[in-house]
Amino acid sequence: MEHDKNQVHSLICREKGELISKNELVSRSVIRNLIREAISAMEKAYAPYSGFKVGAALLTAKQKIYTGCNIENASYSPTNCAERTAFFKAVSEGEREFAAIAVVGGNDGVIKDYCPPCGVCRQVIREFVNPRRFLVIVAKSEEDNLVYFLDELLPMGFGPEHINH
Ligand code: THU
Repeated sequence: MEHDKNQVHSLICREKGELISKNELVSRSVIRNLIREAISAMEKAYAPYSGFKVGAALLTAKQKIYTGCNIENASYSPTNCAERTAFFKAVSEGEREFAAIAVVGGNDGVIKDYCPPCGVCRQVIREFVNPRRFLVIVAKSEEDNLVYFLDELLPMGFGPEHINH
């Protein structure tokens, strides 16, 4: 219920006086497709140390999807999260404009709860998107999902515009 209330409050956001609805930015069917892709990407996770598998599906402005999974390491700290894998794949292919990312995760790939992006991933996403328009979708299934603007998950984030001006 608490989640539902938050969702209603954050259905729209105001950017430069313009009211933007999440539903206008990415349709329900695209959201479902992204979640499906994220679930299938999760199966590729390399997570022998934590056993926690994560999958992400990143949608570009031109509606192309890049997927990613978490890739762990015996030395632990080089571990790369699923969201960053998806972003680094896309950016390394020349993509620079993004609309949304769906994220799913669970122990042994069994999804029991929403898997919110970690702080490092939120900051990496911040580098490449407009936080007032980019959507982060966390999901338990195609039907059961929560949709946030990045700005809600990383308020007043430090971005390229702060260093360039
Ligand atoms: N993980 C992600 O892939 N994305 C997140 O946003 C949260 C954490 C991964 C990293 C690590 O391989 C495992 O989940 C447990 O932290």
